[in-house]
Amino acid sequence: MERDFGERISAQIIKSNLIRKISASLNRLLHRCFGAPAMRRLKVFLNGTLVGHPLHPMLTDIPIGAWTLTIILDLIGLLFRFPQLGLASGIAAGVGVAGALAAAAAGLADWMDVDPPEKAIGAFHATVNVSATVLFLISFLMRWGSHWQPGWGTFVVALAGYLLVSIGGYLGGLMVFNMGVMINRNAYRTGPGDFKPAVATRELAEGQLKRVLVEEQPVVLLRLDGTIYALGAVCSHYGAPLNEGTIVERTIECPWHASRFALDDGRVVQGPACAGVPVYDCKIVNDQVHIKLRQ
Ligand code: FES
Repeated sequence: MERDFGERISAQIIKSNLIRKISASLNRLLHRCFGAPAMRRLKVFLNGTLVGHPLHPMLTDIPIGAWTLTIILDLIGLLFRFPQLGLASGIAAGVGVAGALAAAAAGLADWMDVDPPEKAIGAFHATVNVSATVLFLISFLMRWGSHWQPGWGTFVVALAGYLLVSIGGYLGGLMVFNMGVMINRNAYRTGPGDFKPAVATRELAEGQLKRVLVEEQPVVLLRLDGTIYALGAVCSHYGAPLNEGTIVERTIECPWHASRFALDDGRVVQGPACAGVPVYDCKIVNDQVHIKLRQ
């Protein structure tokens, strides 16, 4: 059902066979490139795990800001005849191109883990933004060739790029705000604030992950070496069920993209996830494990 402009646009993109084909080829290529362990470390860096925040949206501010400056300086320079602004607008265009390339690398690292139908929107978003970058690169080279004295032709090329990057930004917003790509899947976890019964101790076998619902919150419990651990059962990265994961070096490894969360406190030990998962304090009362969200 398409109820608003965003949903109509998304539906058209998702339906496109061409975008599906581009998406499939790009996906294969990226998975081949980032398959090696050394490349996986680069991918996780680009995902933003190190800074606890996806890197891509931080980097997109560079081209958007720089290219906005390019357009404003060009307009002032051309309308009010200030040729001395040409060098500044040229530098801004170049900085924007460099920032766009870095943003594209981080965006592709995120996009690899995205599932359909959002994957198609991401592929189109990338195509539009790469086209914008190419236009700004052409505009930059034209400026260079004219000794930083841009004419209307150079400006029009940059303006076309700016229009495209605005469309690209809108599509990126649709993916995050409407479709929930790269949001922390546990953002609204609030409880239980007091100890509540979760499971009978006899139901926890050593080394086996057990999923339960406590106050409607999915929680995964584990007894390991005599200690009971409880973490949120939903992976913060893309919502995978962590109870289907594996225990690796005192972490739970996500079954979908191999993020690892520490048993002790739910922090991210290995990306691509950027946010940890909720952690619960445990105590045993009358052979029942009781848990409470650790604040
Ligand atoms: S869903 Fe992607 S790492 Fe868990």
